[in-house]
Amino acid sequence: MIPINQWIKIKAPATVANMVCGFDILGFAVNNPYDEMEMRLVNRSDNQLGSVLGNVDKPAITIINIDDYNLPTAPEKNVAGAALIALMEECTTVDFSTLGFEVKINKLIKPGSGVGSSAASSAGAVVGANYLLGNPFSKDDLVRFAMNGEKVASGVKHADNIAPCIHGGVTLVRSIFPLEVIALPSPTLFVTIVHPQIEVRTADARSILKQNVQLKDAIKQWGNIAGLVAGLMKGDYDLIGRSLEDVIIEPIRSILIPGFDDLKKACKAAGALGGGISGSGPSIFFLSKEKQTALAVEQEMKKLYEGLGLAHHTYVTTINQEGVTIEK
Ligand code: HSE
Repeated sequence: MIPINQWIKIKAPATVANMVCGFDILGFAVNNPYDEMEMRLVNRSDNQLGSVLGNVDKPAITIINIDDYNLPTAPEKNVAGAALIALMEECTTVDFSTLGFEVKINKLIKPGSGVGSSAASSAGAVVGANYLLGNPFSKDDLVRFAMNGEKVASGVKHADNIAPCIHGGVTLVRSIFPLEVIALPSPTLFVTIVHPQIEVRTADARSILKQNVQLKDAIKQWGNIAGLVAGLMKGDYDLIGRSLEDVIIEPIRSILIPGFDDLKKACKAAGALGGGISGSGPSIFFLSKEKQTALAVEQEMKKLYEGLGLAHHTYVTTINQEGVTIEK
């Protein structure tokens, strides 16, 4: 266990959920952007910052926002707080009537951007807490705890951002209850992301989806998921590209994102293997085999959104293989 009052620094990567065809089951972590956090264990009795839950029968968590997003600091309303409450409830090695956590969060991943901002906070908090406590929990336990943060953010527990954020790389969530996460290998891939500066709430982007799927669409979709997994495992770039197709979610959600169809055409024409909506949007991502292509894709994204007069940020990055890391 790390001594009381000793701060640790945490880096939690952004993630791209769904990976086009794998709604709620596939995702990968990226090296940029990422959130920064600091955490320490404190004695609840000498907590100077004062926002312990008041009742010593409850877990004590103090959230301190370093950024300007004004996210809730009440632990049960904060995604990192909700994830920590789940961890503390299952932890039998520490007496949380006397000990608590202080968490400083500097969100460099803009909330509502579609690249796993809430997952980074939840995953960063539970990985940090586990480290402070001497690592009593497995990665699967941490994914389970962090899903409570996703429930606060979007109303549903899903792990397609959390799993890659904690494991790194590309992950497949075969099942949530019981949790089964499979880490997938991938060949070198360059990732170009554009974040048009509009907000799409995950809860809204989920509420517009149809609850029933036509069998012919389901057949296409599971062919693509299987093709994508096989392509990643074989390092077959062409198969990866062909499999990055979504006939169920994208046709509905893309109407929320200005210029989506034109952008997709332009990025493919620039040589990208394929891509689509990142998570529930509004960010859009494309994968490329070469860095040069990823940079050309970025130019297309900039050209399109400059043409539409819509403020945007772009990132050219690679797949993050480590997941959340602690600076020692
Ligand atoms: N799989 C989720 C969705 C990711 O697309 O709604 C959003 O966090």
